[in-house]
Amino acid sequence: MTTPAGGVERAEGWPGEPWPSSAHRAGADAGHPGELVLGGVGVHALAAEHGTPAYVVDEADFRARARAYREAFETAFARVGTGVDVYYAGKALLTVAVARWAREEGLRVDTASGGELAVALRAGVPGAEIGLHGNNKSDGEIGAALEHGVGRIIVDSLAEVDRVAALAAERGAVAPVMVRVTTGVHAGGHEYISTAHEDQKFGLSVNPGPDGGDAPAMAALLAVLARPSLRLLGIHSHIGSQILDGAGFEAAARAVLRLRADLAERTGTLVEEVDLGGGYGIAYLPGEEALDPRAVAEDVAAAVATVCEELGTELPRVSIEPGRAVVGPAGVTLYRVGTVKPVLVTGEDGATFTRLYVSVDGGMSDNIRPALYGARYHAEVVGRRSAEPGVLARVVGKHCESGDIVVHEVELPADVRAGDLLAVAATGAYGRSMASNYNLLTRPPVVAVRDGASRLLVRRETVEDLLALDLG
Ligand code: LLP
Repeated sequence: MTTPAGGVERAEGWPGEPWPSSAHRAGADAGHPGELVLGGVGVHALAAEHGTPAYVVDEADFRARARAYREAFETAFARVGTGVDVYYAGKALLTVAVARWAREEGLRVDTASGGELAVALRAGVPGAEIGLHGNNKSDGEIGAALEHGVGRIIVDSLAEVDRVAALAAERGAVAPVMVRVTTGVHAGGHEYISTAHEDQKFGLSVNPGPDGGDAPAMAALLAVLARPSLRLLGIHSHIGSQILDGAGFEAAARAVLRLRADLAERTGTLVEEVDLGGGYGIAYLPGEEALDPRAVAEDVAAAVATVCEELGTELPRVSIEPGRAVVGPAGVTLYRVGTVKPVLVTGEDGATFTRLYVSVDGGMSDNIRPALYGARYHAEVVGRRSAEPGVLARVVGKHCESGDIVVHEVELPADVRAGDLLAVAATGAYGRSMASNYNLLTRPPVVAVRDGASRLLVRRETVEDLLALDLG
């Protein structure tokens, strides 16, 4: 093992980002020379035991990243004099084992539906350590949260304040709630745009409402305080995803802390908690940099301390909700290559070139992100090493749709052929969790690797599973 960047140990011979920290190529004397080894298990053994396509998750890598986030934020906020809770955003990937890993590393779990809540509870995460989000929660979801003593229900509208209050009152309970606000700060990728008004469905704006009265965020906070069956824990803000510049978090923190101070001035209630959401960016391609948790934690802690001092308010307890940054780089999708087809393409300049279309046995049903967001990934032939030169390739799936692209552009060895194993890196977040049955493909299994052994966490779907849902 070599010493870490960002607190994560790397295997000897680690190929670098975006591969998980245990990844390396087997030596020349191995059973499959040059094959990719993940968590001590070679990809040939993984494919033989679990089939392809398969989502492979490096457990040690997940745990190390969870710890790195927790320790970075705990250290930075302890230095300015307050505590932090890190919630793993389960929407990125949630299975019973994954929820357990998060908890064992000292994280809590953030859920976004009754389904995610059920998995976290099945994993033994205490209700008090779970948060429930959603802009349109059902009565059933709110009821389940109340029944299991969920530690925070993040309310997203004025109407929901009333619904949660009524459902809690019916049970004779007092529901702990946070109010999700929009601060006008949006961030994601390298963009950083600040707008006064927000044209999207989440949260309540800190800016004045259409009638010029109280900002919707303030109105919701006042409404919560007025309901005896609700306890106002704090204010929540989530500014976006795949953020690679910490400045947006600082700007959002400032806006949330000002709102907190305004509420205290109006009502005498200084809420205890502030949640700054998720969105911490990762490397998807070789050479890309991930957001460093220690740097962002230091900057956000410093900003929170400065603003609280300026406002003359006590420091809140802070929480964050990373999903992608914990599980994204830990996951790899393993495919088997099928049809390989050279296609003559005419470029924008009129010149022609050959693009090698490499079809794999999955596609947009196991990773919708390239089709949905134009997301870029990195792939390699991983069952062997090739001495052939690289050629321009596009990795595509097996769906009946030309937009079924897995990796838009990547160099693969010229001798890539049917039967090769091919892996796509950094698919741990939002791959499995956004998977579908398009063309009635069955969803791949989730396999954990650790210390030379693999373990099935979620089995592969079968055609029988699909037929069982269809009542004819
Ligand atoms: N907290 C809240 C309230 C969120 O809405 C999200 C993501 C997170 C935390 C976690 O964000 P992360 O740290 O994973 O970026 N499906 C998309 C991303 C949409 C995420 C929505 N909310 C993707 O594949 O990139």
